[in-house]
Amino acid sequence: MALLPILHYPDVRLKKVARPVARVDERVRALVKDMAATMYDADGIGLAATQVDVHEQIIVIDVSATRDELKVFINPEILELTGETVATEEGCLSVPGIYDVVERREGVRVRALGEDGESFELSADGLLAVCIQHEIDHLKGRVFVDYLSQLKQTRIKGKMRKLDRQSA
Ligand code: NI
Repeated sequence: MALLPILHYPDVRLKKVARPVARVDERVRALVKDMAATMYDADGIGLAATQVDVHEQIIVIDVSATRDELKVFINPEILELTGETVATEEGCLSVPGIYDVVERREGVRVRALGEDGESFELSADGLLAVCIQHEIDHLKGRVFVDYLSQLKQTRIKGKMRKLDRQSA
């Protein structure tokens, strides 16, 4: 098990579109383990493979307070968005220290493969639904900052560049 380096916005690699996983095998399961370890270590509630510079459709999520309810989505596909539009303050491990409000739908029905390679469907609402939409966005090369105003995007890019210079 290894902790993986997380790409920081506005790294252009965060814009890459992830390809589907052809086969859920040991390689994929090892990557899922590393992604989960990386997410827990960084105190995040979700991580997409894109964020660790692997451009395959893999997401790990744990929105539980106890940090023991790992959910793995391979080749996730949104079947339906339900409910109202809700505004939630979001953050992202690729944009550390930045939080802002994004509008998304309150419910989602998703189909994906699990770590065992079996297909499953899940209906979610609340924080889990928001998180699923946020992480699937990553697989499409989209970061939550992309939904904010140009002014905010410019400001956040400046902050991130400064932060990465300091830690370099
Ligand atoms: Ni994110």
